[in-house]
Amino acid sequence: MLKLRDLWISDVEQLVELETKLLGETLGQEMLSTEARNPLAKFIVATYGNQVIGYIGGWLVAEELEIINFVIDPAYWHQGIGQKMFNALIDYAKAKGAKTVSLEVKESNQRAINFYTLQGLKMVRVRKKYYHDGQDAIVMMKELS
Ligand SMILES: CC(C)(COP(=O)(O)OP(=O)(O)OC[C@H]1O[C@@H](n2cnc3c(N)ncnc32)[C@H](O)[C@@H]1OP(=O)(O)O)[C@@H](O)C(=O)NCCC(=O)NCCS
Repeated sequence: MLKLRDLWISDVEQLVELETKLLGETLGQEMLSTEARNPLAKFIVATYGNQVIGYIGGWLVAEELEIINFVIDPAYWHQGIGQKMFNALIDYAKAKGAKTVSLEVKESNQRAINFYTLQGLKMVRVRKKYYHDGQDAIVMMKELS
């Protein structure tokens, strides 16, 4: 059964493995462990049985939620799990007074751009050559009502 909960330090190793497999890069063990203790961060993990299948993480600073990373094991895509995780983070942020959500996504990541568009985010600007591989970052944003 699918469960959502806060990130635990013991999840970090599995998440680093998943991110590396899926995105070719990872926030890394140290950063994820730090975020698990950061009071301005909210990192939500999805589990299925005793397996960690993904996470979404954001920082909540001055009424702005910034989504830092979002990853789900492909075996669990297209079941609405992404939407549930996204909504859980948004609901948390709204309860804490967030007025906007924003994020950066790689220009080639059409799946993620589609997903965020479906959640009501709009492209607001481009950060040129933002990623290590030279790709641009698309900044997407939505006001939270
Ligand atoms: C982006 C990501 C988190 C979305 O996760 P997901 O669990 O597949 O998301 P959802 O299932 O909620 O929605 C994805 C699609 O499934 C569809 N869907 C939702 N519920 C569904 C259901 N019950 N049955 C069939 N399809 C469904 C949605 O309409 C959506 O369709 P689209 O891709 O054609 O727009 C996932 O693709 C991922 O981990 N990608 C790699 C990492 C990444 O790029 N992260 C973003 C970095 S910024």
